[in-house]
Amino acid sequence: MKSHWVGIAAVATVLMFAGQANAAMDAAAFKALAKKKSCFNCHSMDRSLFGPSLREISRKYSGNAGAPARLAGVIRNGSKGGVWGEVAMPAYARLSDDDIKMMVQYILSLK
Ligand code: HEC
Repeated sequence: MKSHWVGIAAVATVLMFAGQANAAMDAAAFKALAKKKSCFNCHSMDRSLFGPSLREISRKYSGNAGAPARLAGVIRNGSKGGVWGEVAMPAYARLSDDDIKMMVQYILSLK
């Protein structure tokens, strides 16, 4: 029981650092939405499944100024395949602009 509270205190201390708190919140928001929208059926953080891993996507586009618009377009409109392999990426036309922006920013923040 006591160690439980020590754990919570440690987490709270970490969250007090603003940058880390933002990163942790971004990750939680991204993962919740990605789970709800089944992104993780085809993408994982670190391993290629049907689609590229999210970290691979981030690495491929690092330093590419057009990446945010490009990736937002792929999420909204889908992709016929051919960029990473022969498998297609379904379109998520009903996601809001804000949700897509949040997902793209998070993916591109991965190192
Ligand atoms: C049915 C499997 C599947 C699902 C579900 C899926 N993806 Fe994909 N995704 C792919 C495949 C396959 C590719 C690579 C397509 C290609 O090579 O053109 C891809 C590509 C992408 C890319 C672009 C990579 C690039 O270089 O163009 C992003 C970003 C992405 N997915 C994000 C997401 C997000 C966010 C979700 C959930 C909202 C999602 N995907 C759901 C299969 C999937």
